[in-house]
Amino acid sequence: MPILINLSPNAKLADLKLAFKLLLAPHKWLKGEGLDQLNQTFKNYFQADLALGFKSGRAALWMALKALGLKPGDEILLQAFTCVVVPNAIRFNGARPVFVDTQPNSFNISLTDLKKKISFKTRAIIVQHIFGYPDNLKAIKQLCRQYKLVLIEDCAQSLGAEYQGQKVGTWGDMAFFSFGRDKMISSVSGGLLLVNRPEFSSRVKHFYQVFKPASPWFVFKNLCHPLIFVLVKPLYFTCQWKKFSLGKAILFIFQCLHLVDKPVQLIELQGKQPKNQLQKLPNAMALMAQQQFDQLKWNLCQRRAIADLYLKELSALAVKPQPEQRPAYLRLPLLVSQPAKLLQLAKKQQVILGDWYQYLIAPRGVDLTRLGYHSGNCLHAEKLAVQVVNLPTYPKLSWTQVKKIINIVKQYAHQYEK
Ligand SMILES: Cc1ncc(COP(=O)(O)O)c(C=O)c1O
Repeated sequence: MPILINLSPNAKLADLKLAFKLLLAPHKWLKGEGLDQLNQTFKNYFQADLALGFKSGRAALWMALKALGLKPGDEILLQAFTCVVVPNAIRFNGARPVFVDTQPNSFNISLTDLKKKISFKTRAIIVQHIFGYPDNLKAIKQLCRQYKLVLIEDCAQSLGAEYQGQKVGTWGDMAFFSFGRDKMISSVSGGLLLVNRPEFSSRVKHFYQVFKPASPWFVFKNLCHPLIFVLVKPLYFTCQWKKFSLGKAILFIFQCLHLVDKPVQLIELQGKQPKNQLQKLPNAMALMAQQQFDQLKWNLCQRRAIADLYLKELSALAVKPQPEQRPAYLRLPLLVSQPAKLLQLAKKQQVILGDWYQYLIAPRGVDLTRLGYHSGNCLHAEKLAVQVVNLPTYPKLSWTQVKKIINIVKQYAHQYEK
């Protein structure tokens, strides 16, 4: 079986069975106990004041920002080296994203640049635990207290990570999670907002009342998704001709039928908000996410064991965690001098590695000026974006596959790194 970091990596047999069962039970698609149960699970796990499921992580972030009652001219600080949907959520709330640099050799935010960019217009900081590596939460929280700023944690990639023994998601005033197709747990699309400060809970509940569940078509697509990839994945490198293969041809057909979407829509790249983005998580998606949450302990254990081996074997290239960080390791980032060569070498051996985020504000094609990013604003982050490659850690990877990946990276390092 090829190793494909981004194609439905979490789906196990139990998930396929559940998706199939739900496909045959349309009465459970929109309504049922699933969403309340998932909300309660997150509320208990994080001891939060409120947990609410959304159609996506970006919708959950939109709601967190809505609860702040932002006015035009307000500024929200966020890390460069992010996904376009994060600054978009700020802009859709009428505020201005202000990008903060990362540290030189880690994806964590630079405290020096953060302090420099706080102004009298700043209302909140969104801190992102990229690849599941927790950011420097203690210092950031202190800054938020000092300047009376709201702290929002972007936990889209970090469910289960800890900083100084405390779970990420519990440090901020609010935090959001993603259940996207290649996240820690997945319902193909989905997200959740966690509120830790009661004064925000009442506002969030107020706005949430008008949210409707996503459409039956959205549920149908998401339930088909893992089943489609059962077909696509084994054929991904079969009958290759130039850039094509049998698996890719099948995927293309499903894309033409609009049964498989890109995770970020074209109009989002242009900085526009798609219709129907602000919706609740439908029951079926909540049931899928809950089933994976029930295995979170195992999931984290597997990812950490795989990451430990990468860190041991590839210590010259892997980004090491600090002692106070206990990452969830959604992916294991490497910093290399020629990422394209490594990706190519791996592909020749039927391994697709990750390229998050080879574009400073991902994915390719984002209109940076519209977002207010100007080249040179965040130099460290720009440098990281041209060096990063990420290795898969999804729990289904076998040890033989992990060793294969390690060998590929060693081959690359031998040929191209000094
Ligand atoms: C860092 C980060 N923040 C936010 C999001 C948005 O999550 P979703 O795709 O569920 O809207 C993503 C998704 O890729 C992400 O990687």
